[in-house]
Amino acid sequence: MFPIEKFKGIRTPFYYYDTELLDQTLDAIKKELRPGYNMHYAVKACTNPIVLKHIAQAGLGCDCVSGGEIQACLDAGFKAEDIVFAGVGKSDWEIELGLKAGIGFFNVESIPELEVINELAGEMQKTARVCFRINPNVGAHTHANITTGLAENKFGIAMEDMVKVIRIAQEMKNVEFVGLHFHIGSQLLVMDDFAALCDRINELQAQLDAEGISVPNINVGGGLGIDYQNPDANPIPNFKAYFETYATRLNLREGQQLHFELGRAVVGQCGSLISKVLYIKKGSVKQFAIVDAGMTDLIRPALYDAYHCIQNLTSPEQPVEKYDVVGPICESSDVFVKDYDMPGLKRGDLVAMRSAGAYGEIMASQYNCRQLPKGYAEL
Ligand code: LLP
Repeated sequence: MFPIEKFKGIRTPFYYYDTELLDQTLDAIKKELRPGYNMHYAVKACTNPIVLKHIAQAGLGCDCVSGGEIQACLDAGFKAEDIVFAGVGKSDWEIELGLKAGIGFFNVESIPELEVINELAGEMQKTARVCFRINPNVGAHTHANITTGLAENKFGIAMEDMVKVIRIAQEMKNVEFVGLHFHIGSQLLVMDDFAALCDRINELQAQLDAEGISVPNINVGGGLGIDYQNPDANPIPNFKAYFETYATRLNLREGQQLHFELGRAVVGQCGSLISKVLYIKKGSVKQFAIVDAGMTDLIRPALYDAYHCIQNLTSPEQPVEKYDVVGPICESSDVFVKDYDMPGLKRGDLVAMRSAGAYGEIMASQYNCRQLPKGYAEL
């Protein structure tokens, strides 16, 4: 599945995106979307321009969290009205960019932010469509650093303040309240977490009905996980079960639009970090495979203890040996995996760190004055 011949002339480390798998994943999503369902790809997962173009061409919208992401999406050909813009700290220029482009809606996370949007929209003689991000206080089964929907997290407006905030928006001249936004966390594989969110939204809707407030749009965020252990067995996430959960559990009102913001599930499995083995170093208790990619290229193992399956692309038939696969960065946490059994490696072999399409290239840094990894994809 990897075009290894083509890799020969490319400087390592680099990200390889399998655009065929990406297109199959996009088809699988579109097949499962139901009437009234809208998918906004969470751009934060990967903004590689070729990847973005494929997603835009598939007709998905996008979910942005910065002015830079909005611009990248406009450049890639997404329609402005299909862009939603979230984030707890939107700068004035980012809000202005969104207003000027005419994005679909702003997912607003506080009253002070609402006031600024109202003011800036007024100055530009525009009306900003706003959804409120509600903190549903739903726990999710994932790494503590990537849960977002708990009361202790910085995100969203507390549920008990929701009606008050909607009333404030309704009084404002330059904003139009158009919906509610939620997101409970990332890399969720248990559908019960999404079901719990549906239950919470159902409760809220009943409360809002009683207040006579109608909510044209419900945005449930993203979060569907991928199989990091077995990327080849499960290259495409279980979109059927995911959408089924919402279809059966969430009580939508007549004409209400449902929005999703999946990131990882869209691009995660189609990307791999390709790296070259520099040295095999035998220590007193360990054998290290030192590769030319480091935590600067893929930070997830160091930051979240995340596992990425590592494959020997050059000599997959070699007898299995045990390695700590490590990078060249001057940090002890620059380790991809410890005590890992894989086909024997030698200097010059290429390895693929799989399932790195989401939150891989985009989270790279230049620490140690390293060059950012490039992305390679066949159009
Ligand atoms: N919507 C909102 C409001 C979000 O905060 C996020 C992710 C998403 C959608 C997309 O979530 P996804 O479908 O990709 O799970 N860097 C971490 C993940 C951080 C996720 C942040 N928010 C990682 O490498 O695992």
